[in-house]
Amino acid sequence: MKTSLAIPVTKTQSSRLSQTDFSNLVFGKTISDHMFVADFKNGEWSDLRIEPYAPLHLNPSNAALHYGQSIFEGLKAYKNENGEIIIFRADANWSRMNESAERMCMPSLPEEVFMEGLLQLLELDKAWVPSAKGASLYIRPFMFATDDYIGVKPSDTYKFIIFTCPVGNYYSKPVSVKVETKFTRATEGGTGAAKTAGNYAASLFPALQAQKAGYDQLLWTDGKSHSNIEESGTMNVMFKINGKIITAPTNTGTILKGITRNSVIQLAKDWDESLEERFLSVSELKSALEAGQVDEAFGTGTAATIAHIYKIHLDGKDYILPEKPADAFSHRVLAALDGIKYGTVADPHDWIIKI
Ligand code: COI
Repeated sequence: MKTSLAIPVTKTQSSRLSQTDFSNLVFGKTISDHMFVADFKNGEWSDLRIEPYAPLHLNPSNAALHYGQSIFEGLKAYKNENGEIIIFRADANWSRMNESAERMCMPSLPEEVFMEGLLQLLELDKAWVPSAKGASLYIRPFMFATDDYIGVKPSDTYKFIIFTCPVGNYYSKPVSVKVETKFTRATEGGTGAAKTAGNYAASLFPALQAQKAGYDQLLWTDGKSHSNIEESGTMNVMFKINGKIITAPTNTGTILKGITRNSVIQLAKDWDESLEERFLSVSELKSALEAGQVDEAFGTGTAATIAHIYKIHLDGKDYILPEKPADAFSHRVLAALDGIKYGTVADPHDWIIKI
């Protein structure tokens, strides 16, 4: 893809590439050599640049550190069999970032700044895109307040940064989840639909309790009555019950508009699968588990793509889901998404960009 914006580049003098063990990648631990940076001041984005990945200098009074004006995105780049770099639905990440920005009183980011910064960063650090099956380059665009001011108000200045990390699989095996009916991830009128730091901070304590009780993650329920399933861990969640795929709608403002979620729904429609965007109540889930009618349950997100759920804890009881056949929907949809992302199967919805 052609790029047009002239972004000055300062290259690292000490690349970490040769010391990186690509056969042993822990999610989010290894960071590539460079980052793209832009600053928002006087009402506009300026000083676009690519520079070596390095610590930031922030004052202790930095507004984001105190009041959490901080949003992020996650997407991935893949290497195909010809060594070409492919990115998946980056335009959707750009527009969702601007939705998060609006909710958090942050400035919108022009598409050109997001896309050109991303493409030129990837061009420079393309050697960091792993080629092993299942591996990819996780891309983390984020924006945060930079005013040095601890009065509570929207910041006047911001920084937008993109850095990248080569990653392997997020989950190496199916996960166990506990239905959470005490703590809340998001509530109507809150920030659940925004990809903002505070949502993740609020999830840590309940997730830790679940982990102490022996479960990998939570199934979040709604904040008002805890009677409907909303999300799972940091992902959207889907169930296949009696042959029907069910996933929560995103019109309550409590659920992230997942790009993987949207892609799975599109593929399900392409394949004439029966799919309902509606709330699954905890009691309906319980009855279906008791009756052995839950064929599949899985999280959808950028980091894991599809996270298979093998065990659900509900009302003091563990339910083990049945072994899935090779042609189960969650296996087929994962294979299709991987195929599109690695460029081995057709991309009917123009989701990929080759760099
Ligand atoms: C995702 O799976 O898309 C996520 O947002 C997970 C990330 C917070 C590591």
